Amino acid sequence: MKTIGIGVIGTAFMGKAHSIAYAAAGTVFGGSLRPKLEIVCDQSPEIAEAKRKEMGFERCTSNYMDVINDPKVELISICVPNAVHKEIAVAALAAGKHVWCEKPMSTNLADSQAMVDAAATSPQKTIVGYNYTQNPLVHSARDLIREGVIGDITGFFGVYDVDNEADPERPYSWRMNRELSGTGANADVMCHLVSVAHFITDSEISRVVGEYDIVYADREDPKTGTRKAVDNDDVCMAIARFNSGIKGTLRVSRVAWGRKCGLSWEVHGSKGMIRFDQERLNELQLFTQDQDPRQQGFRTILSGPYHKPYDAFLPNAGHNLGYVDVKACELNQLLTAIDSDTTTWPSFADGLQIEKVMDAIDRSAMAGQWMDVE
Ligand SMILES: NC(=O)c1ccc[n+]([C@@H]2O[C@H](COP(=O)([O-])OP(=O)(O)OC[C@H]3O[C@@H](n4cnc5c(N)ncnc54)[C@H](O)[C@@H]3O)[C@@H](O)[C@H]2O)c1
Repeated sequence: MKTIGIGVIGTAFMGKAHSIAYAAAGTVFGGSLRPKLEIVCDQSPEIAEAKRKEMGFERCTSNYMDVINDPKVELISICVPNAVHKEIAVAALAAGKHVWCEKPMSTNLADSQAMVDAAATSPQKTIVGYNYTQNPLVHSARDLIREGVIGDITGFFGVYDVDNEADPERPYSWRMNRELSGTGANADVMCHLVSVAHFITDSEISRVVGEYDIVYADREDPKTGTRKAVDNDDVCMAIARFNSGIKGTLRVSRVAWGRKCGLSWEVHGSKGMIRFDQERLNELQLFTQDQDPRQQGFRTILSGPYHKPYDAFLPNAGHNLGYVDVKACELNQLLTAIDSDTTTWPSFADGLQIEKVMDAIDRSAMAGQWMDVE
């Protein structure tokens, strides 16, 4: 058994989710490569020290270069706001580290391209945190589609609604600023939906027409107490054509009251349909038209050990995996790739294709016309 030294940068929602996955990886998956929590970083030294103790890292720092330059660190998690991803990822790859970067890759295509270029000149592995493609049940859905269970794919239709910013009194944050976040709901949640669309259809979006809405035009800045203009989208919609020839629609909102993680999608086929709702992430809905018409309807398939790697967590079906378990599946893919020199999905190169779709939606929403994905 070998260990792999881990550095995590950022300690909030995602920094914690990655750290839990690292701590669980050996117990859940076994495997010959065992993560060792070496160093954690937060811009606040007090938070860094508190998280070091809480999450069991050996060392902590408030300077991410300490993580990159740490000789004991071989794999780095980037769990900070989007605008900082590129500089960390490029430096980490140059220093010979593997990189697990949260989504979206960056705030603009040029930065994401620079990350891909850095990965192309490094033998190290990369993966982008598109965890909704890592659910064992979603992998199984793709297998069923590939096996022709719903016939030929005729369309992809997806929604990702959340109510994170639905309250107009929610204060201004980096997520509402184009410079710090990139686009709004497009960068934050549309990217997840595009990742699923690409993964589940084995195809990529090639042309879009996009539309935006800024529902709440300004918010109170907690730093100054004054109103600050929101300059990115609360709602983002797209009609899409895929390079396989299918068509679809994608709609996301960060101001949709009641939707907590309302990522749902449908793949329509010539002989049936598969539906999924992330708020019920252990259920797949399958309709096949070959049933006795008197008994026709969607079947609910509960997640279980035959949806690999569910069996690494639990021996019995219907006992349910959660969000962090799926994050552990994502990590397992990366550790396997590092250990066996296999590929990951989505690597930085695959992630760039997702960013290009978001960019085309952005250009289309600004210009009011169809746009090709570059
Ligand atoms: N995959 C998912 O489902 C998912 C969910 C939420 C967020 N994310 C992504 O994860 C990233 C982080 O999101 P979050 O919700 O954890 O963000 P957050 O704003 O809640 O936390 C960011 C963390 O980074 C730290 N930080 C900021 N700048 C830093 C710097 N220069 N050096 C060191 N630490 C710094 C902050 O102190 C904080 O701990 C974002 O890119 C976001 O889009 C992904």
